[in-house]
Amino acid sequence: MRVVDIITKKRGNILNPQGEELTKEEIAFLIDNYCNGNIPDYQISAWLMAVYFNGMTFQETANLTNSMLHSGDVIDLKNTDTLKGSFVDKHSTGGVGDKISLPLAPIVAACGAKVPMMSGRALGHTGGTLDKLDSITGYRSRLNSDEFRYVLAQCGFAMTGQTKEIVPADRLLYALRDVTGTVESIPLITASILSKKVAEGSDCLVFDVKFGSGAFMKTPEAAENLANSLVKTAHTMDKKASAILTNMNTPLGRKIGNFLEIEETIECLQGNGPKDVMDVTFALGAEMLTHVGLAKSFEDGVELCKKQITNGKALELFLKNVELQGGDTKKLMADVGKRRSVYMRKIIAKENGYLSLDAYKTGLASVSLGVGRSKTDDDVFADAGIILHFIEGDKVKAGDVLMEVFGKDEKCFDSSLPILENAIKITFEKVQTTPLILKTLR
Ligand code: URA
Repeated sequence: MRVVDIITKKRGNILNPQGEELTKEEIAFLIDNYCNGNIPDYQISAWLMAVYFNGMTFQETANLTNSMLHSGDVIDLKNTDTLKGSFVDKHSTGGVGDKISLPLAPIVAACGAKVPMMSGRALGHTGGTLDKLDSITGYRSRLNSDEFRYVLAQCGFAMTGQTKEIVPADRLLYALRDVTGTVESIPLITASILSKKVAEGSDCLVFDVKFGSGAFMKTPEAAENLANSLVKTAHTMDKKASAILTNMNTPLGRKIGNFLEIEETIECLQGNGPKDVMDVTFALGAEMLTHVGLAKSFEDGVELCKKQITNGKALELFLKNVELQGGDTKKLMADVGKRRSVYMRKIIAKENGYLSLDAYKTGLASVSLGVGRSKTDDDVFADAGIILHFIEGDKVKAGDVLMEVFGKDEKCFDSSLPILENAIKITFEKVQTTPLILKTLR
């Protein structure tokens, strides 16, 4: 096989500008030899650009996902005596105030499923589940595979980061896509996300594909294309999968930050969570439970999830997980409602009207406050964040405290407050918004 022939096959020509479908062997040849260092960056870059313009069929995307998946470790969670049952995970394309994994995992585990969660860290304007968990004193968000299995067996869910051995092809390809203008390709995004999720050992996957200013996909149409590709490609790989399209034009919940989002998670598990967070959590939970056969229908799944809040089981499991992963549960519960950065400002409404709050700008401001990172080696600050006293659509009066803002130091307010002021709009008439949950693709 010659690399240039594979590139031109995908690129096409004047008679066939769409190019042709690559075979499983051709795709494996490219990925294996790129990872071994036998194919140079410039040839893979040309192939990535051909894929960017001509796309891939679901079968090709599935073959690419499979080749990437086998570039590193594939975790077999079933291959142990202590771990039984169905494994189900969810993946979110990321957003602002998106702490859904934190209440969702214990709720679904309390219903009897196993939830092996491998999450990421904050980057850009979106937060990261692992940074949030690391704000719990003592919590270890990096587990080795034996520890991961142990925690999963003991409390039904475990939280860790991806190791370097999971899908090394994705790290290489992503770095190249980043500098060749080929990140925004639906089949490449699909293979990147799916290869990591399948390598982590789940039988069933539920995707929370967000649309809006604070999302990776800005429009509902773009989000639907990605969701459709994720679900169809997963089905081609014989995985159960579905996707929910959810709104990320405004932050989720009322708390944005690292410890602040842990605090909001506890409120959710105590039955006092914000409606938007609970609605998305129950919808994803119900999908997960139907996939593993623990719920007869979506509606039955929602009821089962709600029950785990009222009977206290989900909170019990969350605290058990914190303890198993080294966290101090007494200090955690004592900190709720109290642990705040000493650097604080209030943002006051300047006029009467209806509030809208842009997710992207709020996310950028939170990075300046110290919640997230601009570069992968930046530090994050556990106690930085924002408490929203009013949310999108609320009626406000001049003088109302719209939000409390907590920073890593005094200086960070110089950059973050102007961004936040810019994220806020108060209008005479209520702005029409797209629904929180737009549709489900199965
Ligand atoms: N997230 C991923 O994991 N991969 C992509 O390519 C884009 C978003």
